[in-house]
Amino acid sequence: MAKMTVKDIDLKDKKVLVRVDFNVPLKDGVIGDDTRIKAALPTINYVIDNGGKAILFSHLGRVKTEEDKAGKSLAPVAKRLGELLGKEVTFVPETRGADLESAINNMKDGDVVVFENTRFEDIDGKKESGNDAELGKYWASLGDVFVNDAFGTAHRAHASNVGIASTGIPTVAGFLMEKEIKFIGEAVEEPKRPMIAILGGAKVSDKIGVIKNLIPKADKILIGGGMTYTFNKAKGMEIGNSLVEADKVELAKELIEAAGDKLVLPVDSITAAEFSNDVPTEEHAGDVPEGQMGLDIGPESIALFAETLKGAKTVVWNGPMGVFEMSNFARGTIGVCEAIANLEDATTIIGGGDSAAAAEQLGFADKFTHISTGGGASLELLEGKELPGLAAINDK
Ligand code: 3PG
Repeated sequence: MAKMTVKDIDLKDKKVLVRVDFNVPLKDGVIGDDTRIKAALPTINYVIDNGGKAILFSHLGRVKTEEDKAGKSLAPVAKRLGELLGKEVTFVPETRGADLESAINNMKDGDVVVFENTRFEDIDGKKESGNDAELGKYWASLGDVFVNDAFGTAHRAHASNVGIASTGIPTVAGFLMEKEIKFIGEAVEEPKRPMIAILGGAKVSDKIGVIKNLIPKADKILIGGGMTYTFNKAKGMEIGNSLVEADKVELAKELIEAAGDKLVLPVDSITAAEFSNDVPTEEHAGDVPEGQMGLDIGPESIALFAETLKGAKTVVWNGPMGVFEMSNFARGTIGVCEAIANLEDATTIIGGGDSAAAAEQLGFADKFTHISTGGGASLELLEGKELPGLAAINDK
């Protein structure tokens, strides 16, 4: 990576500001998935092992009003972090002020402080999300150096990432940021070939940018999920009651045209009369009849995708093949996971979000080379966009 990393700076005796992405699912104070906390540990451990004082901060959820703050404190996250690190973590329930400053000034080398949800600053005029210059400057004033390890937030230009960096404080990437950029960046820009992208999910509109960016770069693009039916409509097929984005049918035609034989669409569907796991399913090759909706790719498509994936050396996957949360419509996603798991000597990457949840839930998470911790951020990287959080890190 052409960006400076935490290895390029001296941390000893330094107050090290570390922006992490601790935006974890939290219900009634219980963390549903601590993957993002675990993913930040290498950087945090490196800072404390090298004599730095680690001052950690993150957003959690979206906060617009005073009421929104309920259940969005980082306190449970700080507690979990302490358990994972096996050491005391001081939580400061403030985003600024005398208590925060004195907690920081009392830190010894190797200490860890976590301060409150950065988006609590959004109540009074979107200071965090609006990248308020004064707020970025204030946070920067609390430390000597800035480590940005929040890959999941790198597609946002907020005060806690871009704002702090813009003050001129030495700004470097953490290990998670470095790893994410390396895997996703290399898969898209300099992949081992053949490189195959698998794109699913409900809507074409969510994936237009990715498909356009990958047409010239991928060797094949496999399409699944609800967006299949907008493509099938564009091909003049019957789609019954399947999900369709009527205003994207023309665009789907253009994408089919531009991609030529690179684009591989499903050839059959598992359908049902309702969006439910409790009604009978049907299997249809090609057209979906009136009264039915396609909710997963069918067995012929699974076989076609598995055959196409044979020999792939790079696979990038974003978006499930069907409504995997319902067992009747999970087989397509399982089939694709199995085909990927059987590849030899391939770099296989899941671009965060739903597909990461699917791989986890279906028991395939350990079969992938890299599962991104960023949903929106990995999608924007796959779209070929510059991520502002990454751009703001000092070049090597
Ligand atoms: C994410 O979960 O994708 C990141 O933490 C960013 O969160 P946001 O979409 O609320 O900015």
